[in-house]
Amino acid sequence: MTVAALHAVIKGTGSALPRNRVSNAELAAKVDTTDEWITERTGIKFRHIAEPDETTSSLAIEASRNALQAANMAAADIDLIILATATPDQTFPASATIVQHALGCNGGVAFDVAAVCSGFLYAFSVAESMIRAGSARNALVIGAETFSRILDWEDRTTCVLFGDGAGAVVLSGEVGTRGALATKLHADGQHNELLYVDGGPSTTGTVGKLRMKGREVFRHAVTNLTSVLHEVLAEAELTAADVDWVVPHQANARIIEATAKKLGLDPNKVVLTVDQHANTSAASVPLALDVAVRDGRIKAGDVIVIEAMGGGFTWGASVIRI
Ligand code: UT7
Repeated sequence: MTVAALHAVIKGTGSALPRNRVSNAELAAKVDTTDEWITERTGIKFRHIAEPDETTSSLAIEASRNALQAANMAAADIDLIILATATPDQTFPASATIVQHALGCNGGVAFDVAAVCSGFLYAFSVAESMIRAGSARNALVIGAETFSRILDWEDRTTCVLFGDGAGAVVLSGEVGTRGALATKLHADGQHNELLYVDGGPSTTGTVGKLRMKGREVFRHAVTNLTSVLHEVLAEAELTAADVDWVVPHQANARIIEATAKKLGLDPNKVVLTVDQHANTSAASVPLALDVAVRDGRIKAGDVIVIEAMGGGFTWGASVIRI
């Protein structure tokens, strides 16, 4: 007897943003920058910045509750939580266990994944592999960050680019044509000095601040994303014309446009939220996905591509039938 193959299907999406929404003009009152520079170079208009009572786990919990509600599922149904973050509440334990306890689904598997801006892609890939292997039934995959806590607010080349937030999806194993069709991940550790945090428990004993050589990262991002998108579409035996929506990592509108152009993807099929959220690292893809699902752009049956690239360098892409 042959056993029909399981696919990891997205059953619901959710997101959460800190209360405080900061415009470029508000930022320009404190940092040596202008709305014009930020808009032209990045497409960013607003970002949300966490208040002291808002943390990576509190945003992750809110996003998870919204995703569970959208999936019409209870926390008790969840047996796997993977939280992608570079800004956990504590060095340990994993913030995923804080989310698990708050949701009240203790007893399953819960851990964090550290792949910075590609974190959601890495977490998604692990969760969908575990579902296909039968070692999890229903997973919460979350990207949540409070990057405002690791920004150097004196460094205008980085502090204007990032924001805080969280996004989550509920994944379930199903037999059929829906679900993750192909996923590809990569890492190349030789570029640490282009994008990193200058502290850590084992080196300085401090949290550290984000440092980035933006122009070099930009160049690598377009090259790596174009290449992994070609790779993942080929693996799924699809072409750019088959894609209904691209949900890219929201670092810079110019990176997103350049990548879409290189692939021959219709720019009207690209979900863009960088103007509203700025770069929320691991949260950016699930946040953008939730926006496009809730406003009705992404519908059941659509073929979407999610992609991200960030510190490490790490990068990846996945093709999913919704
Ligand atoms: O999510 C992880 C991946 N991260 C990324 O993908 C980010 C990738 N990089 C980028 O998005 C872009 O490289 C940036 C937005 C960071 C920078 O844009 P750019 O067009 O590469 O500008 P640049 O770094 O070459 O800087 C151009 C000028 C410089 O002045 P000079 O040297 O030409 O006189 C900077 O000092 O812009 C200046 N500048 C600013 N001016 C006003 C840099 N930051 C600012 C600022 N406001 N905030």
